[in-house]
Amino acid sequence: MESLSIGVVGAGQMGAGIAHVMAQCGYSVFLSDMNLAHAQKGHSGIRSRLDKQVEKGKLSAEDAESIASRIRPVDGLTELADCDLVIEAASERLDLKLDIFRQLDSLCKAETLLASNTSSISITTIGAVTQRPDKVIGMHFFNPVPVMGLVEVIPGLATAQSTVDTVVSVTEKLGKQAVKSRDKAGFIVNRILMPMLNEACFVLEEGVASAADVDTAMTLGCAHPMGPLTLADFIGLDTCLAIMEVLYKELGDSKYRPAPLLKNYVAAGWLGKKTGKGFFSYV
Ligand code: 3HC
Repeated sequence: MESLSIGVVGAGQMGAGIAHVMAQCGYSVFLSDMNLAHAQKGHSGIRSRLDKQVEKGKLSAEDAESIASRIRPVDGLTELADCDLVIEAASERLDLKLDIFRQLDSLCKAETLLASNTSSISITTIGAVTQRPDKVIGMHFFNPVPVMGLVEVIPGLATAQSTVDTVVSVTEKLGKQAVKSRDKAGFIVNRILMPMLNEACFVLEEGVASAADVDTAMTLGCAHPMGPLTLADFIGLDTCLAIMEVLYKELGDSKYRPAPLLKNYVAAGWLGKKTGKGFFSYV
């Protein structure tokens, strides 16, 4: 299994996290983005997180160096052609994902498994734009990837059992628990979590409580590790909105309508931690 070569498409928060845990586990990883500078930025973020672990005495400097050296930042998709498993972690936009899967399908060797880290988009739809829907699967990680112990595994209608088995064993090798979900919008976690975060936006918008009090209420009242508005900032408000829009469209129930306040924050470019401002400030 260590000999598998892994490709990760998208060097943002999720893609870099996936590359990090794969390399930590011994896999060699190609970390790809639209251009080399983006891929290198993802790689330096991983390096600084590894350095922090070294400072805390949780990792030796040699191990940190060998983990970082197993990750190769690359420009575009071409160099992923010989990977055994490619995990796409690009932005949550259907057109973008379909385009990436069409390209991967034509570039990669016939045996390559193609996984998507999508948080809500149909795996069956993604698989259908390729000539290998039996080798297309959902592999949904959680943020921060090095810390969270779960991967949702989502077979599309045409996904082969052998594809599921390989992805479950890679997940276990990472020390994470795999749970299987049917290919239905939001799968398990986001179907339950996102309406709660969206509801916190409604509570704030209606003036029921301040942002700080909403979060205090849910951390102390429900023992959540962080409040819903902080968690939304941490995930990215654009990602939260994109997921709510998929839930609303696919499940067709008004209870999934995105909160107007959430839409406005995204329109203003207040996307949470990554832009320095969301419901809270990060400077
Ligand atoms: N990357 C790597 N490691 C990180 C990290 C990051 N971004 N953030 C924190 N960590 C590590 C720290 O280094 C620390 O490691 P150590 O124990 O080895 O020193 C450990 O996590 C704990 O961190 P802290 O002590 O700084 O902070 P907390 O104890 O407050 O924990 C947290 C931070 C683990 C993020 C915790 O607040 C938490 O569990 N929050 C909820 C996260 C959550 O719900 N994630 C799921 C989001 S939904 C999703 O991802 C789906 C998607 O489709 C939207």
